[in-house]
Amino acid sequence: MDKFIIEHSRELSGNIYVSGAKNAILPAMAACLLAPGKSILRNVPNLIDLKTLAHLLRVIGARVEYENGSMSIDSKDVCFPEAPYELVSKMRASIYVLGPLVARLGKARVSFPGGCAIGTRPVDLHLKALEALGATIEIEHGYINAKAEKLVGTDIHFDKSSVGATINTLMAAVYASGTTRLFNAAMEPEVDSTIDLLNKMGAQISGKGTTTLEIHGVDDLFPVEMNMIPDRIEAGTFLIAGALSTKPVTVCGCQKEHLMPLLDKLREAGCSLAFSGQDITVTPPDQIKPVNILTLPHPGFPTDLQAQFTVLMCLADGVSYIEDTVFPDRFMHVAELNRLQANIKMDRNVASVKGVEKLSGAEVMATDLRASAALVLAGMVAEGSTTVSRIYHIDRGYDRIEEKLNSIGAKIQREIG
Ligand code: UD1
Repeated sequence: MDKFIIEHSRELSGNIYVSGAKNAILPAMAACLLAPGKSILRNVPNLIDLKTLAHLLRVIGARVEYENGSMSIDSKDVCFPEAPYELVSKMRASIYVLGPLVARLGKARVSFPGGCAIGTRPVDLHLKALEALGATIEIEHGYINAKAEKLVGTDIHFDKSSVGATINTLMAAVYASGTTRLFNAAMEPEVDSTIDLLNKMGAQISGKGTTTLEIHGVDDLFPVEMNMIPDRIEAGTFLIAGALSTKPVTVCGCQKEHLMPLLDKLREAGCSLAFSGQDITVTPPDQIKPVNILTLPHPGFPTDLQAQFTVLMCLADGVSYIEDTVFPDRFMHVAELNRLQANIKMDRNVASVKGVEKLSGAEVMATDLRASAALVLAGMVAEGSTTVSRIYHIDRGYDRIEEKLNSIGAKIQREIG
């Protein structure tokens, strides 16, 4: 298994570039199943999670090709509506094929995703919504069997804001007869991006950017070409790297409006920010100020930046409190950061982070995608050398993170194992 060996490297400066958003591309790939023919997605980075979904789409009968940041998906011959355990267990987002398969083929057999390092993560909201649209759902031998001759539009109220359930239901409802209305829908930029893609294919979805979405069923969808939005979580990770640096760093190719909750917190921590087109320059403060964080659905502070922001707070001048209301158990990184001599205490689901003068290099283990990004940032600011093992987690969602960070002054070496 590959490892990162990271030497203390806090003097970052220059331009770092953001790739396309994994969490927008995954549903876009699944949505291509809905429009028979060849769709093309551009600005697609080379990520393990995207390869896993590409593999699944091929199993289902699609032709998927990837070259130079463009992915083409030809879904003309999609005929095998099954997502096997080996693939779904590698990546939960494989559940995104459920809605499109039921909508297009009238049936799907998708392995139950199960838990993961950041909590139990049920899919009950996805299933309830599909049932409300008229599908019959049976759970058998670890698989979800869904069937529907024709889905029928209806009103669906989500108990909780869920990105995945909102997107899966949108994809199921595009072919449903009549009108479907989703209440308490998620408003993340990745939901908006999926709506844009589906509407470009010929769907009729209104309410983008609000918690109420209305879908008028259509009879046909057509393949499209679309540029994918920049990854706000990768951008946010690099902005936090800039905040931890001793010199200004410019993060290029961001969509500022997707990053507002983080930008506010960076300012509160003492950073100054400058904007030029799609670029954001972060100038770090002399002394990082403590800032409290409460993660919430968009437009609240994103859970996917919680671990990285915790690293910034490890070096703040005082105590900050960090609570994750989206995934309350998402604190696996805390024990690893404490190995680097951070001072973080957990009180139920709240981390109290007492800033220390410096972190100290050690061997740590990545536990999930965003926690591993946090450990990379921590390794860069820690004195001496830090080894981060199990970095396959980071390759799931960051394209060549070490090359990108090294280009602005980090000292990260990949040891192939
Ligand atoms: C997506 C993102 C993930 C991000 C998360 C929250 C992808 C591929 N992943 O995950 O990076 O951390 O949004 O922004 O886009 N829940 C239920 N029942 C359900 C579904 C969700 O109770 O059926 C709960 C979850 O356990 C969690 C909350 O709802 O507490 C939000 O989860 P959700 O927005 O669905 O996350 P994902 O779509 O899985």
